[in-house]
Amino acid sequence: MSTSTSQITLDDLLRKATLAAEKSYSPYSGFKVGAALLLDGGQVVTGTNVENASFGLTVCAERTALVRAVSEFGPGIRIAAAAVANLNGEASSPCGACRQTLAEFAGPDSVIVFPTAEGTKAMHFHELLPLGFEMKLEKSPRRM
Ligand code: THU
Repeated sequence: MSTSTSQITLDDLLRKATLAAEKSYSPYSGFKVGAALLLDGGQVVTGTNVENASFGLTVCAERTALVRAVSEFGPGIRIAAAAVANLNGEASSPCGACRQTLAEFAGPDSVIVFPTAEGTKAMHFHELLPLGFEMKLEKSPRRM
């Protein structure tokens, strides 16, 4: 796959996601996931999954990357593209919680790349989360 989004190709982004997966802390599932976000400004931020003995506290690779991106570049970030990879040779599209979390900073045309049983697939974000929950900012009590 060689679709280009700025200077970074989706192949580059997938390679960075795969590298990030090598840092995975996943002693309970053994499933090593990495994510790489390409921001509108051209920056790439990666993350991996971090598991916990209290399983529900596990953080997925995509959400790790997102939290890192906001922490590093601030609340105005926008996601141009995201890649997800794993070292287990399995299909792994972003889980529902990660899709809803990404929705905060992605647009309908953000490109998401991930492994499927038929090989790597690239989809637009609106195809992955067609009816995500939204709260309009003007209705938010915290806006002021
Ligand atoms: N996982 C991710 O990192 N991203 C996803 O989108 C789905 C699942 C992780 C969580 C857990 O550490 C392991 O994969 C098995 O569920």
